[in-house]
Amino acid sequence: MPVTDRIPVHTASPYTVTVGRNILRESGRWLSELHAPCTVMLVTDDTVNALYADTVDAALSAVGFRVLRFVFSHGEASKTMTTLVTLLEYMAENALTRTDVIVALGGGVVSDLAGFAAAVYLRGISHVTIPTTLLAAVDAAVGGKTGVDLAAGKNLAGAFKQPLGVLCDIDTFATLPLSEYRNGMAETIKTAMLCDDALFCVLEDTDTCDLSAAVARCIRYKAQVVAQDEHDRGLRQLLNFGHTVGHAIEQCSNFTLAHGQAVAIGMAVIARAAVQRGLCETDTAKRLVRTLKAHGLPTDNPYSVAELTAAALRDKKRHGDRLSLVVPRAVGNCALHDIPAEQLAQWITEGSIE
Ligand code: NAD
Ligand code: GLY
Repeated sequence: MPVTDRIPVHTASPYTVTVGRNILRESGRWLSELHAPCTVMLVTDDTVNALYADTVDAALSAVGFRVLRFVFSHGEASKTMTTLVTLLEYMAENALTRTDVIVALGGGVVSDLAGFAAAVYLRGISHVTIPTTLLAAVDAAVGGKTGVDLAAGKNLAGAFKQPLGVLCDIDTFATLPLSEYRNGMAETIKTAMLCDDALFCVLEDTDTCDLSAAVARCIRYKAQVVAQDEHDRGLRQLLNFGHTVGHAIEQCSNFTLAHGQAVAIGMAVIARAAVQRGLCETDTAKRLVRTLKAHGLPTDNPYSVAELTAAALRDKKRHGDRLSLVVPRAVGNCALHDIPAEQLAQWITEGSIE
């Protein structure tokens, strides 16, 4: 199959992320190398169902899997306990056993929800992820964080559950609405800031950017981080660059600003504040802001410091009266920076000045 990369993820139960073009139709052969024939619960949302589920269903059926399908309405509003329970009941009605498999086909909402179902159904069954958004490919579908939202906030119930494998078909991103593509690009730029000046250079040049290579590089980096800190006790928190302020911006906007847009502003705010504090070169912050803008992402904080600080301090990433910010030192080099919570307002003030 036209595979461009196979990326190992060395977690306690190791697996491989297969990246390529036009490989959805190979998903049957791919799964049969990971698991014996069984019943497969193909979980997807209505948008992805209309675009890609028949291809995957046919590929799985052709090699002997019995395919059942669970389709829910697209969007974050479906990432709830209610949808989870409906899915679990559907699996139980259809007598899925511990030797059956869940296939999560879609964006991060699908992989989070289906992965969580795999973690709790019969105390754990196998699942694989087939990301169809750029964001899910570079982040959500790899690394084993699964979960749903509660009324009190995003991702407040969940489990660590690594997939058996991940199949990433770059060509599926061609049907993404521009806004969703940009969401994924924000996380891609975030990863470049964390890991690699070479990747950042690729993203800076919007005309010649090789998406396939960029996605593979991001996955390789995330795989390395997850292998060192599978349960998010330290190093993995680096992946939250831009997210402390970003989540606060999402909340202040009542979730009218997309996650990627909010993270873009969050990264720009922290980078500018880091420059003010002598922690980061001016040129690094300038390159970040220029690249975000080149990809159609916002970089200016539209909210008051007081509003944003209050929202950020409600975030679950706070540890008592301290929080850990991810601070860029240079492109491809960020560090965790522990601050007293009361200093956050000053960081946001400094970072809001362009
Ligand atoms: P999403 O799953 O809601 O997908 C975005 C939209 O794109 C949806 O409307 C979906 O139907 C549509 N879509 C998906 N693939 C498509 C395609 N190929 N063509 C056309 N439309 C398509 O959102 P997302 O941005 O992929 O993921 C966001 C979610 O991921 C959030 O819930 C977030 O909390 C979670 N997340 C999890 C992790 C993790 O490590 N588990 C990391 C980052 C984000
Ligand atoms: N998305 C952040 C993580 O996987 O840890």
